[in-house]
Amino acid sequence: MNSETTSRLSLQIMDGIAVLTLDNAERPINLVDDAFLTELESAIGQLATSGAKGLVILSAKAKVFLAGADLHSLGSLRGEALSAMITRGQQVFESIARLRLPTVAAIHGACLGGGLELALACRQRIASDSHSTKIGFPETQLGLLPAWGGSTRLPRLLGLPKALSLILSGKQLDAGGAKHVGLIDEIVPKERLLERAIALIEGRSPQRKTHFWTNNSLVAALIRQSSQRQLLAKTHGHYPALLTALDVVSRAGMSPQASTAASFERERNAFLELVEGDTTHQLIRLFFLQEDAKSRRYDEGVDIRSLPPTRSTAVIGAGVMGSGIAQFTAARGIPVLLADIDAARVAQGMKSVARLFDEAVRRHIFTPHEAERKRDLVAPTADPVSLRGCDLVIEAAVENLEVKKKIFADLCARSSDRTVLATNTSALPITELAKSDGITHPERILGIHFFNPVSRMKLVEIVVTELTSPETVERALAFVRVLGKTPVVVKDSPGFLVNRILMPYLVEAARLVESGVSVARIDQAMLDFGMPMGPLRLLDEIGLDVAGHVASTMTAAFGDRFAIPALLDQLTSEGKLGRKSGSGFYDYDHRRETPCVFQCSQDQPGLDHIARQLADCMSREAQLCLDEKIVADADSIDLAMVLGTGYAPFRGGPMKYQSILSERAAT
Ligand code: NAI
Repeated sequence: MNSETTSRLSLQIMDGIAVLTLDNAERPINLVDDAFLTELESAIGQLATSGAKGLVILSAKAKVFLAGADLHSLGSLRGEALSAMITRGQQVFESIARLRLPTVAAIHGACLGGGLELALACRQRIASDSHSTKIGFPETQLGLLPAWGGSTRLPRLLGLPKALSLILSGKQLDAGGAKHVGLIDEIVPKERLLERAIALIEGRSPQRKTHFWTNNSLVAALIRQSSQRQLLAKTHGHYPALLTALDVVSRAGMSPQASTAASFERERNAFLELVEGDTTHQLIRLFFLQEDAKSRRYDEGVDIRSLPPTRSTAVIGAGVMGSGIAQFTAARGIPVLLADIDAARVAQGMKSVARLFDEAVRRHIFTPHEAERKRDLVAPTADPVSLRGCDLVIEAAVENLEVKKKIFADLCARSSDRTVLATNTSALPITELAKSDGITHPERILGIHFFNPVSRMKLVEIVVTELTSPETVERALAFVRVLGKTPVVVKDSPGFLVNRILMPYLVEAARLVESGVSVARIDQAMLDFGMPMGPLRLLDEIGLDVAGHVASTMTAAFGDRFAIPALLDQLTSEGKLGRKSGSGFYDYDHRRETPCVFQCSQDQPGLDHIARQLADCMSREAQLCLDEKIVADADSIDLAMVLGTGYAPFRGGPMKYQSILSERAAT
């Protein structure tokens, strides 16, 4: 046999070396499904009689080595069928591990989950230096754990602490990070992957560390205990996959080869139990919603191929948000003109851009050279230069409608009729902006609302006015997707979607303080509920003056459920504005925050009671948003709240939370 091609891979013998190329003929990426395992099994079977002296596994896809299990096909299996699928994957990968030949995984692109499990079954791994190369185990983020041998092989390769850190965080490493932890042996330019893999096959096998000092059963038990305490403190026990993975991985490290089978069985049993849990259902649902949001069309009637791509942009206002948006846009290779009212402010903005690129270098996102090249894509200006060549302009100047109206009239005069003009306003009426004096072609005006900090927050609200054309919306969606963010389309209405749902919850938390419930208790209740931060800490972060301003705008639009309690007004008038002024609901002193004590009643309500009351505020407002058609469906609300506010992902979002409560009440 010299060459054999099936629908998901091909096997070729080149100068005595078997080259297995992963290349799913039916889709743009490679995934592990039943057919993949069948074809892989057959290819490995053929190797025995091929006389090959080594095996290289690589991918023919542009950006993917092997992106993990096909969750759609895995999700359709239950019970015995699922158990058999896990066993099969373990066996096929184990048959690679047992080959009496040198084996090298030559990784370019996403090598995640099941993809990494395949790579771990090889004796050596090398990876391309490309940005597309991402290596990791995202399973715990979906409420699962690696169960095709990954939870067993990783601690044996890296030692328990590093393996746990990778599996429990779900982190995806670039080639540099993967080399640093010992996951891959070498980094190679993409074009040289095969040549280098062949050279490794012809060289000596590397000696691997045994990790005795971290993996022996005594140390492993200590690591397990202390990690368990940390996990419980951090997650309040809401994410069972983390505890389960900790248990399985920490017992796998020192198993002699004979007990690999026992470790595989623990992986399989744990997976089968986790997959039935509510948490896993919600996390997988959110994963699919996010995938859907990446490709969802606003209007199928628009021929998106005829729309101009965004090749050149401008950002007006070089403050916190403007510099963040400019940096993120340049980081994706799109040139940006960054403008502000004078040279000093532009220079300040450029400093922030440079700082954000430095941070990206520290986080191994870019090499120093790449960061410099990308930074050069941001051009500063304080002059009213022509914007005719810009495809998209994002205004991120001060939150003042009159200022924004002037800026937009000026933008209309300086840009071409087809330039999309977007505002990053948090709460101002975009329709009014689009209808104001001096505006030409209001159909190209909309909101592109980023969240702070831009580099970390995945959600972007695309805010559509009654005048915005579907083409403009599709162009904005395409731009946001190029940035790698998740867009949710919302109707222009005060607070849009996320801030509108958040506001009554924050106001209600402040009202509870006024009624005598302690600050610490309220925030604790919502941390226990699964929010990343308590509502009163969040109010302090936003700034009590800013929150008060937004709440009064929304009271004018929607009525008293947004009305600010007198306590908030009082704190603001005393200059207690939250973190930025050193005091608010907390006192801030050298990075420590102490909850302030207001009048506390003797009878404090239970934590569950508080959480229920506050979570209900969000769910009620979410339902109103749906009724008013601010957003297309309940799923979009859940996704936006999880990505935009960190709403407890395991609860699935405010709509899902409410529907589960209603179902329970009905049974
Ligand atoms: P900022 O105060 O940090 O920056 C505003 C910048 O706009 C300043 O540098 C100012 O000199 C500049 N500016 C003012 N008038 C201008 C004009 N006529 N032309 C050009 N530049 C002008 O404000 P920040 O926080 O960056 O907010 C900007 C916008 O983004 C606001 O509309 C705000 O509501 C919105 N936003 C803010 C978020 C936040 O967390 N800070 C989150 C999401 C949206």
